[in-house]
Amino acid sequence: RFLASLADLDGVVPEPHRVADRYAAVPRSEPGLFANTADTDPAVADNRTRVRAVLAQSASSQLGLDLPRISDQAHLDAAMEKAAAASWGGADRRAVLHQIGEALEAHRYTFLEVMAAEAGKTADQADPEISEAVDFAHYYAELSAALTDTDGAVPVPARLTLVTPPWNFPVAIPAGSVLAALAAGSSVVLKPAGPAERCGTVLAGVIRDALGAAGADPDLVTLLQVEENELGRSLIAHPLVDRVILTGAYETAELFRSFRTDLPLLAETSGKNAIIVTPSADLDLAVKDVVSSAFGHAGQKCSAASLVVLVGSVARSDRFRTQLLDAVSSLEVGYPADPRSQVGPLVEPAAGKLLDGLTVLGQGEKWLLAPRSLDDSGKLWSPGVRDGVRRGSAYHRTEYFGPILGIMTADSLDEAIELVNEVDYGLTSGLHSLDADEIRTWLDRVQAGNLYVNRGITGAIVRRQPFGGWKKSAVGAGTKAGGPNYLVGLTGWESRESSA
Ligand code: ALA
Repeated sequence: RFLASLADLDGVVPEPHRVADRYAAVPRSEPGLFANTADTDPAVADNRTRVRAVLAQSASSQLGLDLPRISDQAHLDAAMEKAAAASWGGADRRAVLHQIGEALEAHRYTFLEVMAAEAGKTADQADPEISEAVDFAHYYAELSAALTDTDGAVPVPARLTLVTPPWNFPVAIPAGSVLAALAAGSSVVLKPAGPAERCGTVLAGVIRDALGAAGADPDLVTLLQVEENELGRSLIAHPLVDRVILTGAYETAELFRSFRTDLPLLAETSGKNAIIVTPSADLDLAVKDVVSSAFGHAGQKCSAASLVVLVGSVARSDRFRTQLLDAVSSLEVGYPADPRSQVGPLVEPAAGKLLDGLTVLGQGEKWLLAPRSLDDSGKLWSPGVRDGVRRGSAYHRTEYFGPILGIMTADSLDEAIELVNEVDYGLTSGLHSLDADEIRTWLDRVQAGNLYVNRGITGAIVRRQPFGGWKKSAVGAGTKAGGPNYLVGLTGWESRESSA
């Protein structure tokens, strides 16, 4: 259906410049070249812009959606008061959440379209993300039923929860946060990330429609955007907000706390994540998992592998590096409208820290594969691999959020664990080893919220792999999303006597 929906654009994008045709006509001898060629042709670039606009519009206009933009304090106060007045009444939260899960599934192709058009998500990345959103709905539906009196304490729902999600998982993360807050009995204000606000608009529309269809108040979810900094501050610090769920940079969480010191914040923040590969590992599997973890969604995941630490003989021989380079250089780089694309565009043109990461080498480092900018957009980059990353260097410690991987080496697993633990963040971490003692040592000592053995380090699965950070990867009171205690952290508790 996704491809069919692109074909439906026939009437909108005149021949002969349909993007899909143009891509197909370009030889594929070099990864990423087809996108490069297409983008140097202004007619194609222009039509691609139109395709995106049409996709984004069709996805949201089907649902009759609009994104209210808040322009002044009075407007904001009115929206917040209306949102806080919404209530679950007598509706059965468990049944309603299950119905929302079904509605999300029913709109899978709408989400694929808008995620491709607006957020640059290739279908292989977007599709499991939609599944994750559906999983959140059904899982939190069941948790909501389990949120009952415990040890003499009664759950008291937050009145209003503010959700400020990131742009990199523009459906699963806002869905997870909004649905958790709903399941915990709160009403919700969703302020989508600027670069992914159409995705947020579609999501809010589907959830609101499903709430109404299930007999609950659609105003339990309010969508709004504020663009002006002062209004953003007022939104975060708004007295009607009982909880804020933020997923974003560590610095953003600190900024939120500076707006309101008593802010009840649950924040999942940045990461600088590594996979350790020891001589006992299945190297073929390790290469596959390192590549998917580093370059899926062009590395724009807080969970992405930014470092691989090769231990002992793996570091000294060429085998891992050679296989890694073969695998990375075979990746297809291109826009999501081309179904062959495996590494899509950056959401915004590379700049600042990320541009440094893509272009500047630290002392002793060399490119095994130098990243290349493939068109004038600044968004489409071939993946890069740098070797010789030194302990304590900028690359060792900095989160870049793009398609780059650095190689470090260590003489022993102990030394590799020290290298991993030396960074300020602790979000995801991986080990490839077939040695039970090594696995136990690593599990005991590595400092990260989400540990994966002989698996990629992105794509946590709801219920099976609850997701949350440690060290500077989390700020505020936090239990893990997609795990059994998440709703508890979103709820107030009163002793039975005081509530009686
Ligand atoms: N939950 C997302 C992942 O695991 C961030 O990749």
